[in-house]
Amino acid sequence: MNLEIKDLTIRLYPKKSGGRYINVVDSVDLNIKGGEIAAIVGESGSGKSFLGLSILRLNPPDVSKIVSGSVKIKCLEKNDELDIIKLYRKDLPSVRGRLISMVFQDPNTSLNPVIKIGEQITEAIFAHEKVGKLEAKEIAISYLNRMNVDGRARFNSYPHELSGGMRQRVMIAMAMVLNPCFLIADEPTTALDVTTSLQVLNLIEKIRLESNLGVIFITHDLSIAKNISDKTYVFYAGQVMECGKTEEIIDNPLHPYTVSLIKSVPSLSKDYMQGQRLFTIPGYLTNDDFMPGKCRFYSRCFKKGKDCLQNIPLSLNKINSERFVRCLKV
Ligand SMILES: Nc1ncnc2c1ncn2[C@@H]1O[C@H](COP(=O)(O)OP(=O)(O)O)[C@@H](O)[C@H]1O
Ligand code: SF4
Ligand SMILES: [Mg+2]
Repeated sequence: MNLEIKDLTIRLYPKKSGGRYINVVDSVDLNIKGGEIAAIVGESGSGKSFLGLSILRLNPPDVSKIVSGSVKIKCLEKNDELDIIKLYRKDLPSVRGRLISMVFQDPNTSLNPVIKIGEQITEAIFAHEKVGKLEAKEIAISYLNRMNVDGRARFNSYPHELSGGMRQRVMIAMAMVLNPCFLIADEPTTALDVTTSLQVLNLIEKIRLESNLGVIFITHDLSIAKNISDKTYVFYAGQVMECGKTEEIIDNPLHPYTVSLIKSVPSLSKDYMQGQRLFTIPGYLTNDDFMPGKCRFYSRCFKKGKDCLQNIPLSLNKINSERFVRCLKV
């Protein structure tokens, strides 16, 4: 099983921008195998959700379009091999849920509040499989049980009758019910408290082992990436700034953005001592940072030089077979 994204570029036409656009995802390469967890880490507004949505061609068509690239999926278990970007729109439902599923940050907006959760899960089954009502119900119950939700007791519950953590586990049951090869989890724990968040992370870890599931885990939290992922893509203003084995990236960050990001996490920072002010990266990510012609991290970089404005570090420099960095000074 393999999911390979090559040179993916998505153009966003922000509202009231007079037709001006930004490449909200720019020349992204990403590779993930079955059973692997790849984290996409970066701060809010860097385009992580756009990237996740575009893999399933769910990026909002009124404001964005995919301009280039490929998303090739090879799923031998389902006897399928295709490029999602080349598919006709009418064929996309056969990919969504069956080959790749997605879980979003907020289960409150993803679940329909007026439909019982069991019915919402069986609907997903009926959309893809020819099964009877009773069989679909049993499948839904077994998946809820697998996600540590008492399926039989909760089948007829409405979303508001469940806790936040339970709703997120229902979302994961729904995402997994067609046994997909890959799961995109977009900040699935951000809306949860720490303990519930840990339960959901453990659950994702469990299903990736049981189902040889490949997971793209989107997060703004480097410590979560450290705990859950095998490899990490550090994302900033639409571009991968650095990627490689998670352990190597945390232990030896090379890109100035990664260095700054790690320094901003108290529990990970080597410099952090009690009583010392927490480090924050100066400035903000703005639409200007997405503009071509300079390094996208330039305005906030502690290592920048004049040449970073003149030479565009377009490509990722290869450090080793798995490690790549997009910086003129590394
Ligand atoms: N539907 C939308 N219409 C216009 N701009 C959007 C829309 N969704 C997101 N954006 C903009 O696209 C950029 C990237 O957003 P997003 O992918 O949600 O970032 P992240 O998930 O990393 O926080 C941001 O500048 C955001 O304001
Ligand atoms: S290219 Fe220059 S501005 Fe960009 S991250 Fe590297 S040192 Fe900083
Ligand atoms: Mg997001």
